[in-house]
Amino acid sequence: MENKPLFNQPIQEQIRFLVFSASLRKDSLNTRLAKLAAEVIEKNGGKVDFAGMSEFECPSFNQDLEMNGTHPSGAEVFRKRLLANDAFIISSPEYNASIPGYLKNAIDWVSRYRPQPFNELNGLLMSASPSMVGGNRALWTLRIPLEHLGVRVFPTMFSLAMAHNSFTSEGHLSDPTLTKRFEENLVAFMNLVEGAKHYPCIKKAWVEFLGEKPDPVTEQVG
Ligand SMILES: Cc1cc2nc3c(=O)[nH]c(=O)nc-3n(C[C@H](O)[C@H](O)[C@H](O)COP(=O)(O)O)c2cc1C
Repeated sequence: MENKPLFNQPIQEQIRFLVFSASLRKDSLNTRLAKLAAEVIEKNGGKVDFAGMSEFECPSFNQDLEMNGTHPSGAEVFRKRLLANDAFIISSPEYNASIPGYLKNAIDWVSRYRPQPFNELNGLLMSASPSMVGGNRALWTLRIPLEHLGVRVFPTMFSLAMAHNSFTSEGHLSDPTLTKRFEENLVAFMNLVEGAKHYPCIKKAWVEFLGEKPDPVTEQVG
């Protein structure tokens, strides 16, 4: 791939992306993919805030703790990093055709802040796995809580199948066709985030009315 930036919008202000791998493993394939995404973003004029999942680790969610106003430090870091950026990118492992429990747990904790930090953020989902599905089922699972929380999940996701055999020693993808698809997908997402930041649509409030009367108990339901 030539080095000419594909990011073709006039840049008014650098767009900031929180990029993290949702694996805690030292030799994680998802961390490799997240690092490659960070490299592509920077090459195309974006700013990257790279995080590790260990920074967002939280104890199992317990509503009794939350009632006392307790938020674990991992949730606080996750919230701050989401709000300090214009968009986020997660590269998640697939565990048993779903997402890692600790990732959902961290999302649940962060969802309890008001204002709810995920609302109206743009997010891009990626996965890497040694299997032929590349962890893609986890991404469909991950869409559900994120969309529920108001994230604009980018339609095109990227799943790297046979990831253990797909990286060069420099951490790039060895397949040129996949490299092109990976970069074009990231640049399309960057253009969308740039548009959302500088040319926002008229804001609309979405109210889901399920018939229940607002009271302190139903307010606690996500
Ligand atoms: C409990 C468990 C369940 C797994 N289930 C799946 C699965 O459903 N689909 C899949 O593609 N890989 C599955 N894997 C393999 C992971 O994709 C593989 O370990 C991968 O390298 C994890 O991501 P990481 O390298 O970023 O840590 C599973 C691994 C574990 C430990």
